[in-house]
Order: sequence, then C-alpha cells, then structure tokens
Amino acid sequence: MLDLIITNIGTLATPEGKGPKRGIEQGDVRTIPNAAVGIRDGIISYVGPMSDAPAARETLDAGGRLVTPGLVDSHTHLVFGGWRHHELDMKLKGVSYLDILKGGGGILSSVRSTRSASAEELTERAIGFTKEQLALGVTTSEAKSGYGLTSEDELKQLRVVRAVDAMQPVDLVPTFLGAHALPQTYKENRGEFIRIVCEEMLPAVAEEGLAEFCDIFCETGVFTPEETRTVLSAAKAQGFKLKAHTDEIDCLGGAQVAAELGAVSAEHLITSDAAAIAAMAEANVIGVLLPATSFYLDKPYAPARAMLDAGMALAVASDFNPGSSPSLNLQLAMTLACLKYRLTPEETLTAATLNAAAAIDRADVAGSVEVGKKADLVIWETDALSYLFYRFGSNLVHRVVKNGVVV
Ligand code: NIG
Ligand code: FE
Repeated sequence: MLDLIITNIGTLATPEGKGPKRGIEQGDVRTIPNAAVGIRDGIISYVGPMSDAPAARETLDAGGRLVTPGLVDSHTHLVFGGWRHHELDMKLKGVSYLDILKGGGGILSSVRSTRSASAEELTERAIGFTKEQLALGVTTSEAKSGYGLTSEDELKQLRVVRAVDAMQPVDLVPTFLGAHALPQTYKENRGEFIRIVCEEMLPAVAEEGLAEFCDIFCETGVFTPEETRTVLSAAKAQGFKLKAHTDEIDCLGGAQVAAELGAVSAEHLITSDAAAIAAMAEANVIGVLLPATSFYLDKPYAPARAMLDAGMALAVASDFNPGSSPSLNLQLAMTLACLKYRLTPEETLTAATLNAAAAIDRADVAGSVEVGKKADLVIWETDALSYLFYRFGSNLVHRVVKNGVVV
C-alpha cells in the first residue's frame, strides 16, 4: 500500500529522464491530463492516469491543478552575512558592479560581513532562506561558499551548508568558490592566493568532504582564464566536479576553459560568443543562465536561443546573492527566462527542473516526476503551465511536497 496518492491532478507536466535535455529536446515535456502520483517511502512509485491509481493510506486532492517537479535552483550563494542595499545609491548613480568591487565593496564587502558572522548566525539565516525557497517551490538547491576567501572562513561557510542541509527539508548541494574575488591583501601577489586556493583550501575542503563542486569567478579584474585553468585543474585532480562563473560581463575565454576541463556547467554566459557556445556545446557543458542577475545589473540577457540551436542544455537559476541578484524567487527567474530568452514554457520548465538537477549532478534522483525519483513536487495555483510565466510577481505555489511529505 502506498503512503500518499495525489489525485485529481488537472495536468501533470514533467520532463523525463536522468540526464539533461539538450537543444531541441529541451522542450520535450510530458503532460498527463487527469493524473495521479503515488508515493511510498518518499519516492515516487506511480505516475499515470487517475483511473488506474493504486490505493494509498492518505489522499491529497490536487483540485484539478497543475503539478510539476519540485523546482531545482542550481546556482545560489546561500550563505553570507549582511546585505548590500547601501550600494543601491552608487548603482543608481551609474557606478558599475566591477568598479564597486575594485573599490573594496561588492563581493569584498560581503566577505567582511561573512567573516564577522558566527557559524550559528549564518546557519540561522540560511535556514530562513531555505524556508523561503521551499515556500516558492524549490526542493533542491545548490549552495556556494566564496565569502570567506581564507581556508578557515571558506570551511566555516561550507560547514554551515552541511548543517543547514541536515536541519531542514531542502536538499543542498555544496560548491566551493574560494576563488570568488581576490582579497585586497593579495593585489600584488595574485599567484600566492591561487596557490593557497589550490594547495591549502581545496585539500582542506576535500578532506572534510565539504563540497562536490569547485567554481571560480572568471572575469575582467577578478580571475583570468589562465588562473581559471590552474584552479579548476587542481580541483579536478582532487576529485571535484567543476563549474565556472564566466562571460558575465566580458567574454574572456573562461567558457572554453570550462569545456576543455570537462566542467559540468558554466554559469552566467551573458556575453558568450559563437566560439564559447561551440566549445560548450561540443563538450556537453550545461549552460546555467541567470536572468534575474541580468535584470538586477541592468545587463543584456544571455543568448539562450543560440545556445539551444547549438545543441546545449540550459538551466535557469536564481543566482541568489547579496550583490547581483538579491532574490530567491526562482519563479521570477523563470518568467524572465521565458520573456527575455524567449524560451517556451516547456523549455523553461525543463531549465528549472531536470536540466537544473543535471547541472548539480542530481538528475538521477530529482528534476522530474517519474517512478523511482524523489517525491518532490509542486501543486500550482493554476491548471495551465503558461500561467506560471504570466502572473509574475506573486508566489503561485499551492502546495509543495518534499520527500513525499506535504510541507
Ligand atoms: O554570480 N559574479 C560573481 N558572483 C556572484 C555575485 C556575488 C556578489 O556580488 O556578492 C554572481 O553574480
Ligand atoms: Fe553566482
């Protein structure tokens, strides 16, 4: 006997599979009208017509609503101290994101706030963020470090990610981002900071098993493609899977380095040119696009259609962080993806579920409503997929089911 059956689902909409959907296939979403989903031990054990649904101890009537997989936020900076609303005034006066950073603000301001916060304070705060995520339909999320920039402070952040993962329902996937900005003390000695990342931070993170992925910010005035190659090669040799923040403001060749080293994903990609796109497509690098960051930094939107045409798989994520995207609302990012990248509702759904799960190596257990996957689902306050991208600004979640439990 099943634990729970969700019946009277007006439309079940889900991508299918255990890997990312590339190119033209990104829009392949299965829809089942009048569906039911059965759950046992937190795992999906029936997906199909309501009429054939097996018996269960409990029933949840979806009232004819739309059901999709739980959303997956594949790029967040979930653990940090302080905010950066004081930078708004500078922003409005036209000071650029990179100039704020150059002046010791931006990421470096969040580094100061994060270093001075205790692990307990950071934990409490991040738990609050996961509560907000869950209410918005996010059931799995990546979480990066990168506001410590010393071994001790990076480890503190990653230990917080581990603690928060254990303390609440949203599954967190940890990424080490020690090369997020160059501390000002290393301005004249960049090589030494890179050495510390490769030879001290990465081994310490690996030793405690605190991160699955290693990421780096490859950008003008931050880290070069050559430094990106050095850090990601060291990470790969130490068993980390790879990601790279690249082509956010300038297209420097970081995407090609990510491709060359077999990175799982490359992120931002606002300014990616044809060569960058070709390299990522060829190496099956998933493009994690962050449209809320384009919105908040008032930058162009990534060339998503060209990427799909080249055969890439795309994910869409919030990039939640205190500087360039202070919003946890993945629904808003999905609306922007649909309107600004001109992704179809089906392509956008795949971008925030199955492809997002693939970008954090969870496509075997999450990202679709299929037998054998985690019972992570959203019941939406609508019966139509297109409505999710249309009624922007409100939280359209009716109920979230996480590991088979209505939360
Ligand atoms: O993905 N671009 C680099 N890192 C973050 C922003 C971090 C911050 O501004 O605090 C991003 O946009
Ligand atoms: Fe980011």
